[in-house]
Amino acid sequence: MNELKVPVITIDGPSGAGKGTIAQMLALELKWNILDSGALYRTLAYFMKKNAISLKNFSEKEDEIKAKFNVSFDPGTPGEPVKVLFENEDITSIVRTEEMAQLTSNLAAEPIIREFIKPCQRDFMIQPGLIADGRDMGTVIFSDAKHKIFLTASIEERAKRRQTQLKRQGLEVNMRNLLQELEERDKKDMEREHSPLIPAKDSVMIDTSNLNPEGVVKEIKTYL
Ligand code: DC
Repeated sequence: MNELKVPVITIDGPSGAGKGTIAQMLALELKWNILDSGALYRTLAYFMKKNAISLKNFSEKEDEIKAKFNVSFDPGTPGEPVKVLFENEDITSIVRTEEMAQLTSNLAAEPIIREFIKPCQRDFMIQPGLIADGRDMGTVIFSDAKHKIFLTASIEERAKRRQTQLKRQGLEVNMRNLLQELEERDKKDMEREHSPLIPAKDSVMIDTSNLNPEGVVKEIKTYL
């Protein structure tokens, strides 16, 4: 396969594996663009909810959605989540809730939604390079990327990280519910027919359970 002209590093893995933090650190250090594809799906879910668009009327509204679906990302500052801008409005705290995550996970299983999002994701491939964070970045969207990372971590560790993240946003969540929600979402993401969450054959797998973010970045740099 031809090498892409714009260098791309894909970072895939389940929720809470550390993709967001690592993608942010790499994007800031390399001064590359960042694509948070999960946030792109979340923004579409938010947009559909706000405009009463369902899967049934999605096709007939597709041109209208495309014209209005202007999403961009700002890597922001370390320790804070990557900022999601919709038509230049910061909607980070609106889309990064567990409720939105559940809604998004259901929508993301639908082929019509994945087909819509596909070209939007490729549009982020701009010089000097792209860090692409998601579930199918290395397997489907940027299957031609030279560098592919797959991050994993134990479910307990991922739930703990999610809880800390949500607490920082001022949201209190019960650990048992969080574990259950994560399990359900993992299952849905891994077992869906279209673009399931699986490591690309040519990816490097890193278990982040016992590593701090700096340790993960160090491993990635060694690989690069
Ligand atoms: O990474 P996240 O939690 O923000 O992702 C939200 C949901 O979007 C997640 O349940 C699965 C879905 N998703 C996807 O199907 N494909 C991607 N490339 C990214 C996210």
